[in-house]
Amino acid sequence: MIIAVDGPAAAGKGTIARALARHFGLHFLDTGSLYRMVGLAVLRAGGDPHDSAAAISAARGLRPDSFHDAELRSEAVGAAASIVAVIPEVRAALLDFQRQFAQKPPGAVLDGRDIGTVVCPAADVKLFITASAEVRALRRQKELGASDFKTVLAEIKARDLRDSQRATAPLVAAEDAVVIDTSDMEVGAAVAEAIRIADGG
Ligand code: DC
Repeated sequence: MIIAVDGPAAAGKGTIARALARHFGLHFLDTGSLYRMVGLAVLRAGGDPHDSAAAISAARGLRPDSFHDAELRSEAVGAAASIVAVIPEVRAALLDFQRQFAQKPPGAVLDGRDIGTVVCPAADVKLFITASAEVRALRRQKELGASDFKTVLAEIKARDLRDSQRATAPLVAAEDAVVIDTSDMEVGAAVAEAIRIADGG
C-alpha cells in the first residue's frame, strides 16, 4: 500500500502522513527533508542555493545521515530547499531514493509536493492537504516561535508561488487526489478524515 500526501507548506501534511503511517503500519518518508538536506548542504558550504552546479552536486552526494539535523526545520533552510527544488537535475537525483523507499514492504506513506503526480503516480491513495495561507502562516509562526506574522505570511506565499510555478514537478493536486482543506479543522479531525479516505470509506 502506497499513500501519497501532497500539499503546500504548513498545511498539516506531515502530521497527517505520520498518523497514517502509524495507523496502517507503513513506513514514512518526509520527502521535503531530502530537499532541505540539499539546501542545508549548499548553505553550509557557503554556497548560493540558486547556483545550479552547487545544488546538483549536493543532491548527487546526499547521505541520509544528516536527516535529523535540527537546523533542517528552519525557515532559511525551507526557503533554500524550495530554491534547489526548482532544478530538474536535483529532483532527478532524489527520485530513485524516494521510489525505492515507496516499494519497501508492506508499503509507505510519503509526503511532499509531487508524490501523487511524479514520484508515485500509481499510489493506492492520494491526498492533497491544503489550508489558507493565513492559517498556515499562523501555524508556522507558532511552530517557529517567530514574532512577525507578516514576515511568515510573506515567506509562505513566496514558497507557494515558487513551488507551484516551477516547470518540473510543480505543486499541484493529482487529478485523482482527494483534497482535504484543514483551515477550519482540528488536527484530530483532519487525521480521522484522512484515515477514513485511505480506508476507502
Ligand atoms: O515540505 P517542506 O516544507 O519540508 O519542503 C521544503 C521544500 O522542498 C518545498 O518548499 C519544496 C521542496 N519539495 C519539493 O519540491 N518536492 C517534494 N516532494 C518535497 C519538497
